[in-house]
Amino acid sequence: MKIAALASLFLAATAHAQVQGTPFGFAAGTTGGGAAKPAAPSSLQELVSWLTDDVPRTILIDREWNFVGTEGTTTGKCCSTKTTTCEGGTSKGQAWIQDKCDDGTWITCKWDNAARKAIDIGSNKSIVGVGDKGVLKGKGLRLTNGNKNVIIQNIHFTQLNPEYVWGGDALTLTDTDQVWVDHNKFSLIGRQHIVSGWKPAGHVTISNNEFDGRTQWSAGCNGKHYWTMLLIGEKDYYTFAGNWVHDVSGRAPHMGTTKTNSENFFHGVNNYFQNIGGHSFDVDANTWMLLEGNVWEGVDTPITDTTLKSGAVIYNVPNTKAGRDCAGSIGQDCEINQLTKSGAFAPRTDADVLKKAALYKASIAPHTPVADIPKNVMANAGVGKI
Ligand SMILES: *[C@@H]1O[C@H](CO)[C@@H](O)[C@H](O)[C@H]1NC(C)=O
Repeated sequence: MKIAALASLFLAATAHAQVQGTPFGFAAGTTGGGAAKPAAPSSLQELVSWLTDDVPRTILIDREWNFVGTEGTTTGKCCSTKTTTCEGGTSKGQAWIQDKCDDGTWITCKWDNAARKAIDIGSNKSIVGVGDKGVLKGKGLRLTNGNKNVIIQNIHFTQLNPEYVWGGDALTLTDTDQVWVDHNKFSLIGRQHIVSGWKPAGHVTISNNEFDGRTQWSAGCNGKHYWTMLLIGEKDYYTFAGNWVHDVSGRAPHMGTTKTNSENFFHGVNNYFQNIGGHSFDVDANTWMLLEGNVWEGVDTPITDTTLKSGAVIYNVPNTKAGRDCAGSIGQDCEINQLTKSGAFAPRTDADVLKKAALYKASIAPHTPVADIPKNVMANAGVGKI
């Protein structure tokens, strides 16, 4: 083959081998690996070393990296409860990898060790999937110890002991800041797709991801994953935009806690919550939440009753007037939300949300019309779409 032909092949293969777009909302300004030359690791060891060192890097994930079995397995005992045996349910449940079993019975179980211990990412990294090829199988990532400024884009996280609660978390944010989680997919995770706490997650934008809860092992006993997102860090500021959250049964997301002096501001905009056999928002105190331009379709419980009584501060734009009332605080109207074939959505227009939002005006991302959401989100969210 001629050099020119080779060169054009190479260009074609690397055309999207870098971060696409720029972070917006709370994670605006996140640069990740910045100008670091994109490079694909050639072994699992090299991948781990590049992810964990303190060199700014653009790390290309151009294949499936399979961690299953790399750290051995453990045969131990798990707790079996009614969410494991699932009497009357439509799927198998999940057994619990834990030390206590007060409300269940012990059973023997075997899990993969790699999924239970995430890789601690260094600062200043862009971790980017190439085309639709970027898969991290059997391993999660964690940002902690003050490491920050990381972009995670176009990666499919999957197969973290999906049979077991505490089987592994895909993405953990605790004691970090400036994180952009964009165009990823999460499936078959034992525990949380994304978890923050107890330390600050900082400024985080979670955009255009697919949270796919379809599973044979469901603590909701209905073939839908229960533990979707637990966001309870001490100082967390989220832009949650353009995500497709589907076929889950709980914590989509759970936010807020009274166990710390947490402060959680959440701007949920233009997301598509679909086919949720359980609840999406379950929110505790110390949380200020602006929900606009989202669609819930086939969702049993868009917002739990406990949320409404928890002290969580909520503005969910129940009508166009409430939408217009945003302008004085954030310089733009808010978009109404839309519910189809879903449970009750109590109207809430707590003024403190807009007061708080005014402080973060520059971080409040613009919205698109709610009518376009299902179509746009399904076309755009997840891996292989950029
Ligand atoms: C990350 O980048 C920032 C800004 O360039 C720099 O100040 C910091 O030292 C870097 N951190 C590491 C661990 O390289």
